[in-house]
This record gives sequence, structure tokens and C-alpha cells, in this order.
Amino acid sequence: MEAGGLIKNWTRETSDQYGRVPVLLSHDLHQRSMFSDDGLASLLDRYPRDRLGVYTMGNDPQNWRTFVRGDAGNLSGEALLKAVKTGRFWLNLRAVNEHLEDYDALKQEMFSDFDARTGQRSLKQDLGVLISSPNAQVFYHLDIPLVLLWQIRGVKRVWIYPESPEFAPDTDIESVVLRETEEEFEYQPGFDDNAWVVDLEPGMLANWPQNAPHRIENQNMLNVSLSVEYLTMPAIARANMLYYNGFVRRRFGANPDRRNDVGARMWIKAIAARALKLAGKRNAYQKASPVRFRVDPEIEGGVAFLPEREMA
Ligand SMILES: [Fe+2]
Repeated sequence: MEAGGLIKNWTRETSDQYGRVPVLLSHDLHQRSMFSDDGLASLLDRYPRDRLGVYTMGNDPQNWRTFVRGDAGNLSGEALLKAVKTGRFWLNLRAVNEHLEDYDALKQEMFSDFDARTGQRSLKQDLGVLISSPNAQVFYHLDIPLVLLWQIRGVKRVWIYPESPEFAPDTDIESVVLRETEEEFEYQPGFDDNAWVVDLEPGMLANWPQNAPHRIENQNMLNVSLSVEYLTMPAIARANMLYYNGFVRRRFGANPDRRNDVGARMWIKAIAARALKLAGKRNAYQKASPVRFRVDPEIEGGVAFLPEREMA
């Protein structure tokens, strides 16, 4: 299509597939100096340290409870990047666009191109940066918003599973919307037979249907990705429909099936959910995960687990 846009290979076929099945696109953002080692160290120095999500995790893709939060203290961006290269970390810089002007400009550049191609208006746009270690993984989970995953450095394998109750039961997806639980779900290795799998390389970009479960494993090198979230009006309606279903299941013992809630039924439930929230019935419960370790570049692997009593 037209020159100058960030997304390079959006075709008519992409327009047909977008939103219904995973789509794979290309870009050249990975060539920008903001993602060099110096650029990333600067990003880590400038991003508010108290917002930085620092995690480590085990090797078994079924054992998501090993994904635990840590604290990077006041390590310099350079030292932290070095620790990520040699350790087993997942750094999540959420909503960088809200904190740094250069990333806000990047977010606007992305969405002006993306919205022109989809013909939609993206709302609640959020640009996050993921800086993660060789072989690190993100466990099977789903996101409520829509996602564009831009690969910048390194290679990661992404499994995307069908959005159906077989892979994410109604009760579980409702729990995420009601914020009762973290976003991880029970994963069975046999699910992989039905997954769409891609090795995401620098310059590649993936999108998948709303709420489709997925998991990620890095190859053996530093990975940098941009996790860009957004919503559209139908996507907001769908999230609200799930909220309504979760509410009536818990309050009235109803047994709704989200596969029936399309078209007008989805919108009616969405409006009802909005009314519920305005009436103050919203469940604001959100679990803050405790800090379990400190990043310590002086020790092998860099993960210094805290004794139980010191956990913040
Ligand atoms: Fe995700």
C-alpha cells in the first residue's frame, strides 16, 4: 500500500482475516536506534522505576505459579539490561507512552497507520515494552484488550490458541474480566496441536482475535518486543458482555455461554454491564503480587530470592 507507513505488507487478504484469525505482518521499527543497547539502557533509566514490572520464571510451561515478581532496586539501565542478557528475567514496561514523549510519538505513529488500514478507531491505546532474557517464557494466558506484538530484537516462538471454551472456559475468562484472578489459565501440552505457531523475528508483527489464549518462549538470546494494546467499540462491548455473564453466573447461578452472545445479544449485555458498573456493583478486587526477589547482578543468574519474612 502507500509508502511511509510502519506496517509493510497489509493486503486485501489481511483485511479479510483481521480480527477473525491470527495475522502476521512486517515492519522496520527494529532498525531504529531507540532499540539499540544504549537506547534500551536510556529507556530503563527514564521509565519510572516503581512502575517497572520485573519477573522471573521456571522452565515448565504448565507451572505458571513460578512466574514471580521482583524488584530491580536502583540498578542503572545499563546494569539491568546486562542482567537481563545473562539471567532469566521478563521486564514489562507498561504504558510507556504515558511516561515518555518519544514513545508517545511512536504510539501515535503506529495507530495512525494501523487505523488507516483497518478502517477502525482504536481506543485506550497502550504501548508497552518487553525486554526479556534468553529462553524466558510467558505462560498460557489471555488478554482482555486486542494486541499487536511487534518483534524488535531476538526471536520468540508464539503459540496462539483458538478463542473457544475448550481453551478458555467461560468461568475463567469471566474471572479475568471481573479481576478475580491473574490472567493465567490451565494449559495442557495437547493444546499445541490446535495452535497457530510462529517464530517471531525482528521486523515481524502479530495480531490475533480478542481473548485468544497464547503463550511465548524466547529463543536463546535477548528479546525486545512492543506489546501494543487497544480496544475498539465492539471489543469493549465484548469485554462488557463477559463482565455481565460473570456477574449473573456468580449472583444468580446463571450459566451463560459466550458463543451465543454475538450481535444484538452482545450489545444488550454490554449495556447492562455498563449499568451494573455505574450502580457500583463492580468487583474492584485486584491482587497485587508480592515481591519475591531482588535483581542482583553480582550473583549467578541475578535472582536473589527474599526470605519469606522480607517479602513486600
Ligand atoms: Fe498476552
